[in-house]
Amino acid sequence: MHMNSSAVATAVRWGALSACWLGALLISVPAGAAETALTPKWEPVAPGVWKATIGSPEDLTLLSAAGQAPQLAALAGMPAAAFPFAAAEIEARPQARRTALRFPLGLDEDIYGLGVDFKSLRRTGSVFQLHVDHWSGRTGRTHAPVPLYISTRGYGVLIDSSRYVNFSVGLGVRLAAKDKPPVVDRTTGGPAWSSLPRSDSVEVSVPAGGVVVYVFAGPTPLDAVRRYNLFCGGGALPPKWGLGFLTRTPIGYSAQEALAEVDEFRQRGIPLDMLGLEPGWHDQAYPCSFEWDQNRFPDPAGFLAGLEKRHVRANLWFNPYISPTAPLYAQLRPYAGSHLVWNGIVPDYSLPQAREIFAGHLLKKIVGVNPAALGGFKIDEVDGGDQWLWPDHASFPSGHDGEQLRQTYGLLLQRTLMEVFRGLNRRTFGQVRGTNAGASPFPFVIYNDNYDFNEYITAVANTSFAGVLWSPEVRGGTGEDMLRRVQAVCFSPLALFNGWATNTKLWTHADVAGQIRDVIMLRQRLLPYWYTTFAQYHYQGTPVIRAMPLIAGFKAPAANPEPGKLDATANPYAIGKVVEAKDQYLVGDVLLVAPIAPGVASRKVTLPPGRWYDFYTGKPAGENETIDVSPPLSQIPLFVKDGGLIPLTNERQWAPGREEAVPLEVRHYGESPGELSLYDDDGETFDYERGECSWTKLRAAKDATGAWQGEVTAEKDARPWRYSAVTWRFMTTPEASR
Ligand code: GAL
Repeated sequence: MHMNSSAVATAVRWGALSACWLGALLISVPAGAAETALTPKWEPVAPGVWKATIGSPEDLTLLSAAGQAPQLAALAGMPAAAFPFAAAEIEARPQARRTALRFPLGLDEDIYGLGVDFKSLRRTGSVFQLHVDHWSGRTGRTHAPVPLYISTRGYGVLIDSSRYVNFSVGLGVRLAAKDKPPVVDRTTGGPAWSSLPRSDSVEVSVPAGGVVVYVFAGPTPLDAVRRYNLFCGGGALPPKWGLGFLTRTPIGYSAQEALAEVDEFRQRGIPLDMLGLEPGWHDQAYPCSFEWDQNRFPDPAGFLAGLEKRHVRANLWFNPYISPTAPLYAQLRPYAGSHLVWNGIVPDYSLPQAREIFAGHLLKKIVGVNPAALGGFKIDEVDGGDQWLWPDHASFPSGHDGEQLRQTYGLLLQRTLMEVFRGLNRRTFGQVRGTNAGASPFPFVIYNDNYDFNEYITAVANTSFAGVLWSPEVRGGTGEDMLRRVQAVCFSPLALFNGWATNTKLWTHADVAGQIRDVIMLRQRLLPYWYTTFAQYHYQGTPVIRAMPLIAGFKAPAANPEPGKLDATANPYAIGKVVEAKDQYLVGDVLLVAPIAPGVASRKVTLPPGRWYDFYTGKPAGENETIDVSPPLSQIPLFVKDGGLIPLTNERQWAPGREEAVPLEVRHYGESPGELSLYDDDGETFDYERGECSWTKLRAAKDATGAWQGEVTAEKDARPWRYSAVTWRFMTTPEASR
């Protein structure tokens, strides 16, 4: 650039002037002048539960979408607990369009939860944006992005927002932090240098001008989860038949083909309680009509009567986007959002009027045809991905936007369907592909199209921090693959085969067909154990599945991250690996499940403190240690805690009916006396809410001669109790112990 002398002089003057201005600007900014933080006011809302309202929260929250009342009496039965934080250390910064929150995090503390992640359990040292989605491998995007976290110090925090909430857990060190991580020179510091300096906070950012937050006390992490589930209304209690086996038929099956499939199960002696119909029962799918197809299902009442006669319940697939050809369309059109999904309208179910119309139609045209045989629905496609659903800027008649509806659509539909069945005094058990916080009481199990065995198991374990249920899938594959997957689904909340897109059947591979049948039969026989475990979820909030970090005293093989090794291409930031027990979990109080992946002959199992016994033989397996197991192909590794009682029924093809009494076998494991409160009710209705239920004490102890004895003590006047003869089996005999 060329300048003449006067131009140079001017430039110098301007330069001096702007340097002055800059200096003045710098001086006028006070050090650390972020906007002032507020200390939220915590108001007790239930025993051991506190709420804070920060700024101006939006009306549609996750708990308001779920719309269930807290179980206050059950919460009152939990031990009194103090607020788990020094309240002054929690900070909130509400702004017009964003609310930031900071919760303290100790250096010895770990965080779990934040939804059903597929990769890991531990959240410390990660950043999440929680977003309802079909699993795509992106952090925080999942079918159940529940914004609840659980601390190893024994408390939980729920951010009750229907927005995509951001969490930074133990990252993002603040200038004002008291406990800053040490400064280490990367060149000379060796493994002491970390690319992820640990912060003393969990920071949350909500893209809204306010938010409601809840804190749940412990004292243990499991107690914090229990308080959360009870505050959401208590865990789901499925009908007994919901804990049997579900098979889903291929797309386009007719009534005749569906009934023939049930008959084939019966002929082969494979237990079956539910038959799932995939696209094809409606006269139009994608978008859906919610009208029976006249060709494939010319006589819905006759079809359902056929199922009823066979002791099987129908479960009907749908996605909720309504076809312009459907009679329901005109009624719901005034409630439609701005965008279509698969050319169907998206009704705004945050409006009660829209929910009522949909519920009324289901009742009249579908469930009402035969409520004894129409057991439930599979709510598909309410999660995403982005390319299928409405955009975030979509508008809805309620005034809520696409983001809010995306985060709550699964909740709103589960609520609507549960109310249809509640109105008939019948319980339901179904499936859903997208859900969120507040779902604990909803009798729906999440599933997806991902087919990664190990990720499925980690997802099962993660449900225990999120108040939701998850089932892996079996769809086809080689015989070994199918057998291993059937074993895994039989030890998850919903045991199912999803044959929607395959010609493979459970009996296709003759070499494993008998073993597949046997494990489904074992699932069927374990009904009393599953039912009591679900009753604990419902009445006490204790999750059905318990991930290992929820087990007192459990230590993962290496609890801390391994120091990372620098690798210029694979790991340039030398990020350490966290070793965690994410491939095993407990079902209920005493049964440890360690699924074996297809193609694997052996695995490691880490047993918690106390002695553990092999489920099949009663032999000691170990105690507070990691063992290697290589069971036969026919067995999924199962271990029972010392003193554990496992109640089973006889071999059956379907769950017991309301009036039916069935024989009970109680197995005792180990050297210590055992005790179990076995739950029962009619297994089908909501009459248990009026006290029509029973808890019966089963006890095993040695008598004066050293022989094991079993004892059954019923609560006075408790009924119903639908077990006939009780047989005891003491599994850990002296021979078994040798
Ligand atoms: C998918 C669902 C499958 C099956 C299929 C039918 O979205 O995940 O389980 O129902 O739709 O089209």
